[in-house]
Amino acid sequence: MGLLPAGARTLAVGDGDLAFSEALATSREGELVATCLETEAELVAQYANVQQRLSLLRSHGVKVVCGVDATQLCDGPLQGTKPFQRIFFNFPLLPMKVHKARASSIDVQIANRAMLAELPG
Ligand SMILES: C[S@@+](CC[C@H](N)C(=O)[O-])C[C@H]1O[C@@H](n2cnc3c(N)ncnc32)[C@H](O)[C@@H]1O
Repeated sequence: MGLLPAGARTLAVGDGDLAFSEALATSREGELVATCLETEAELVAQYANVQQRLSLLRSHGVKVVCGVDATQLCDGPLQGTKPFQRIFFNFPLLPMKVHKARASSIDVQIANRAMLAELPG
C-alpha cells in the first residue's frame, strides 16, 4: 500500500498557500479536503495567485475549507465530517503573527512544540 492508497479520502490541514493540495489534486484521483488556518480573505491578502489556486482546486472537485485549526479538528468547520484515510500537516509551524508576539526564538520553539502536542491523536 502506498502513502496514498487509490481513492483514499484525504485531508490536508495547515496547508498555507494550498500548493501541496494543488499538487495532490492534479496528480491523483480520490477525495481531497484542503484546509488552512487562515480565513479566505487572509489567504488572498497573504499569497499571490491564491485565488487562481482556489478556483483550480474547486474545479477539480476539491472541497476547500478555511479557518480550520488542526488542534481542534473535531470541533471546528469539519465537525461531523466523514472519516479520512490520510491526514497531512506538512511543516507545521505557528503563523508569523503568533511568532511576532513572542519574545525569543526559544519561546517560539516551545510554542510550536505545544501546538504539535495539542494535535488530536
Ligand atoms: C511553514 S507553513 C507550511 C504550510 C504548508 N503546510 C506547506 O507545506 O507549504 C506552516 C503552516 O501551519 C499553519 N498552522 C499553524 N498552526 C496551525 C493550526 N493550529 N492549525 C492549522 N494550521 C496551522 C500556518 O497557518 C501555516 O500555514
